[in-house]
Amino acid sequence: MKCTICKKPAVIKLRHANLKLCPEHLVARVEKVVAETIKKFRMFTPEERVLVAVSGGKDSLALWGILNKLGYRADGVYLDLGIAGYSGRSREFSEGFAAAHGLKLLVVRVEEELGAGIDGLVKVARGKACSLCGTVKRYLLNRVAYEGGYDVLLTGHNLDDEAATLLGNTLCWEEGYLARQHPVLPGEGKLVRRAKPLVFLSEREVAAYCVISGIAYIYEECPHAAGARSITLKRVLNELEDRYPGTKLGFLRGFLKVRERFTPPEPVELRDCPSCGMPTASEGLCRFCRLKERITRHALRVTEDHGAPA
Ligand code: FES
Ligand code: ZN
Ligand code: ZN
Repeated sequence: MKCTICKKPAVIKLRHANLKLCPEHLVARVEKVVAETIKKFRMFTPEERVLVAVSGGKDSLALWGILNKLGYRADGVYLDLGIAGYSGRSREFSEGFAAAHGLKLLVVRVEEELGAGIDGLVKVARGKACSLCGTVKRYLLNRVAYEGGYDVLLTGHNLDDEAATLLGNTLCWEEGYLARQHPVLPGEGKLVRRAKPLVFLSEREVAAYCVISGIAYIYEECPHAAGARSITLKRVLNELEDRYPGTKLGFLRGFLKVRERFTPPEPVELRDCPSCGMPTASEGLCRFCRLKERITRHALRVTEDHGAPA
């Protein structure tokens, strides 16, 4: 197999793009796609301050590395979620990458902010781990970005993630979610702009990029993800992609062309949470503060049941 561009030995075949690429041209392609996506969707400019949500996985580390190669001013933020057997390792990869590249990484421990990590939270609060974790992540990442004065918060969602979310939203005709699914969401007040520069790159391309560039990342998935609907959606899309190369990219690109036909939900008036001051659609405390309250109440009950310390 030869590289379509230079005829040297190719290491990857991208059927959806009709390309076979050598290491050098795979790296060049990935970086070019990211640079073009940032410009096309006007995600941010070189003058703006960028914060990357870093998980220790291939996508976020590749994104962070590429941004710095492209000359953007990008810091990272790592949320230590408090998930046994996963958080410690993912933190090591994130800190290792930051140290090796001389980049600034902010580390936030969920347990310190919430009173418990995700493992503790799922024992106390109703709801699935991933959805509770999603609430906590969205809130903390936004708050860190806002308080740090960053212009934009980036996540490493790739084409496989985005196509799976799109399929999930389409199967239920979640019109509000469809209207809000976009590579960049503008900021408003204390809600910082969010963007996903990897959405046109497949998981395989990003993984190959990391291997070729020597980026060490955590392979394990979060243990709470086992059985998640998103995994089934990805599997179905992979089967389709195998038979019909280009399915995922066509699905996402096609959607972005018709997206404006979906009606966004009526804008809700946001107020400041009386406890933390961050925006919320609810009358009282924001969802994060309500979870925090539940954990505090639970901890108090446990202390009472076991007798207050002398
Ligand atoms: Fe949040 Fe798995 S990363 S539950
Ligand atoms: Zn080549
Ligand atoms: Zn709050």
